[in-house]
Amino acid sequence: MRRGVFSMRTCRVKAYAKVNLFLDIVGTSNGYHDLDTVVVTVNVFDNVSVTRRKDDKIVLKTGGGLYYVRDNEDNNAYKAAKAFCDAFNVNGVDISINKNIPVGSGLGGSSADIAGVLKAMKKLYGIEEDVKPLADSLGSDSGYLLTGGYARLLGRGDKVEPLDIDKKLYILVAPSKGGCNTRECFKEYDSSPLSPVEGGADRLIENLKNNKVVGSDFYNALYPAACRVNDRILSVYELIAALSPSAAFMSGSGSSVCAIFETPELCYWALEKVRKLSRGAFVTETLSSSELKPLPFFRRSLYSLTDADDD
Ligand code: C5P
Repeated sequence: MRRGVFSMRTCRVKAYAKVNLFLDIVGTSNGYHDLDTVVVTVNVFDNVSVTRRKDDKIVLKTGGGLYYVRDNEDNNAYKAAKAFCDAFNVNGVDISINKNIPVGSGLGGSSADIAGVLKAMKKLYGIEEDVKPLADSLGSDSGYLLTGGYARLLGRGDKVEPLDIDKKLYILVAPSKGGCNTRECFKEYDSSPLSPVEGGADRLIENLKNNKVVGSDFYNALYPAACRVNDRILSVYELIAALSPSAAFMSGSGSSVCAIFETPELCYWALEKVRKLSRGAFVTETLSSSELKPLPFFRRSLYSLTDADDD
């Protein structure tokens, strides 16, 4: 028998991007690299909307102008919906994704869409079960992006340790033209692996807890490999580093170079200078767990500032 008698017809969620403030590679298992990474969600998101269907079909439509992604069965958002339907025996959905997160930029856009589809379908069909195992099976950061905020991730990124940090960071994010393919970047890393940084993640966490931004704490072991895959990343990094940010680092497997400045104004000042090399550059801010919590119902209905709505 089909589950889900809940009457919501459409559910919309914001699927937030993440940045890796620190990323180290500490081993390998089952063909994957084991990570030790400190991540945080940032205020750039894809709008994900799912609507009930009367049949078993999954129909995906993406838009948003800037970023082309395939609307077919290879899209991770489609795979997430299919996995959800199979796991919970519910009807299909129409999925609509308005993309704002740059593709191939190391900001977790595909994982965010997986998490967004699973969260929205959970609400739509009134499913109580934890969907983290499903998210983990579909993408490396998807399980973490179900909740977001500051976290330390281990393993493939599936072991999530939430961090009690509220530090607000203003970040200039500069994706490099051509992106950086994750698989290719890890392969390139293997041709010249680096030793893990002893105590690196702990130092960053301690300093952020004490409200301090120390430039040398921010690190990405994949950065040299990503620069070899796409040498524009190095050019963007050098341009940004010359603007004296508090910290400059690459996110994920690239191609985004991120720079922290003390104020949003300084970020916008740097943005103007970086645009000539990174046309898709933008300014954003971190969102801690407390900022991601949906507002209580009465305030939601007053201000419509919702994490999830239904029609
Ligand atoms: O997680 P995702 O499927 O996007 O990763 C793409 C590829 O990157 C994987 O198939 C794998 O080759 C590589 N990868 C890895 N270690 C990780 C994450 C990804 O080797 N922790």
